[in-house]
Amino acid sequence: MSNAAIARTVAESSAFVSPLAVPTILDGVSAGLTAQPGTASLGSGITVNALGYGKAPILGPTIRVNQGEQFNLAFSNNLAESTNIHWHGLEVPASQDGYPTDVTVPGGTFQYSFPVKNRPGTYWYHPHPDMATASQAYRGLAGFFLVSSAEEEALGLPTGEYDVPLVVQDKRLEGGLNYNPDMGDRTIGMFGESVLANGTIGPVLEVATRTYRFRLLNGSNARIYNFALSTGAKFQLIGTDGGLTDAPLELSAILLAPGERADVLVNFSGLAVGTELYLQSNAFTGTPSQGKQSFKILKFKVTRQESDNFTSPVSLMPVEPLAASQAVATRSFNIGHMMEHGGMSGMVMHPLDGKTFDPSRRDEVVKAGTVEIWEFDNTDGTETHPMHLHAGQFQVLDRSGGRGVVQSWEKGWKDTVLAFPGEKVRIIVRFPDNKGKFVFHCHNLEHEDGGMMLNYEIQ
Ligand code: C2O
Ligand code: CU
Ligand code: CU
Repeated sequence: MSNAAIARTVAESSAFVSPLAVPTILDGVSAGLTAQPGTASLGSGITVNALGYGKAPILGPTIRVNQGEQFNLAFSNNLAESTNIHWHGLEVPASQDGYPTDVTVPGGTFQYSFPVKNRPGTYWYHPHPDMATASQAYRGLAGFFLVSSAEEEALGLPTGEYDVPLVVQDKRLEGGLNYNPDMGDRTIGMFGESVLANGTIGPVLEVATRTYRFRLLNGSNARIYNFALSTGAKFQLIGTDGGLTDAPLELSAILLAPGERADVLVNFSGLAVGTELYLQSNAFTGTPSQGKQSFKILKFKVTRQESDNFTSPVSLMPVEPLAASQAVATRSFNIGHMMEHGGMSGMVMHPLDGKTFDPSRRDEVVKAGTVEIWEFDNTDGTETHPMHLHAGQFQVLDRSGGRGVVQSWEKGWKDTVLAFPGEKVRIIVRFPDNKGKFVFHCHNLEHEDGGMMLNYEIQ
């Protein structure tokens, strides 16, 4: 087959006129949520059949909890297929993690319950059933899971309407929101021509002349975004996948692969009322299949004067650095293997270290509380792979080949790290005391469903 495949070109919205949807807040101390089909209005007069959680016809409410609280959620499955929920980035017991074969059947229920141990920050939830994660997430099932704490509150970061979660996803909308990848899509991932923010096409957000906190989440199946402001203005990175960083960092662009998050502060003060600017994705290099294009994602329209007396804190929340010398083991995984075609089924299998996912296997065994270095080796690969570990957060130790260094937005706690073709990325992780079987996988969802996922057991 001819697989010099390239991501589908984005058809930039012609007008950014639809108000950005902002998901409702669900207090997760004791909540209920139903996965169900619905009809979603995406803006610009486009309506599609989609999947949502609760009353939302697409996506789901933003769950908010404080660190240390017990999270309780009565989940019901009103879909025509089995599903489950994975709490991406959260440190939860294996029984609560949405293991691929731990599913709730149509009409079934499941009680999720776990203590929230993670640091304040931006996490998310989405389905994780074996070979159907891509399809269900693509059709709309995903939501934010935000953790706060008194310590975070004391920092005086923007809150309420000034604290905006932004999930960016590309969809194919001709003929509705259907998941029907062809061989090429199964190879490089499902790319859409329409880029939505919070399920809105051509979104606009009216802002005041003050500082906002945006929680950027790349919730796409496969597309990578190089987030920047159209003015070229800098913003401050204050959080990564695993919550607040130790100090704000001024940046003008952040590259996020599927699964990755970045909390940023954007200061609109000094702009005249009436000013329009955009959150956009800049072109980037490093992979032959993506990054050729720069496109707008969300319009900010300054509509009112408002002053905050906000000054960015000098320090945020300490991040304890893990040192290579603490590691008791190093494991290396080849993520650059060629894919295999699954014959008549039309599946394209993506091996991880020469194997494809098998729930009956136990690929790696680690000890709770110990520190290890894991190496994802894409030296011989031709595709990008955002590698994601369940169960705990890690730090990116180093990168060789390709970009050669840990990117400035990859410091702090991470649960997903991108390896471009030719790159070898080493992460360092301390396994939490949650014994049981977890997965690690590529977060390109077509790769994940194509088998690029292995098991590891914490003992
Ligand atoms: Cu967000 Cu196993 O994934
Ligand atoms: Cu996850
Ligand atoms: Cu991959």
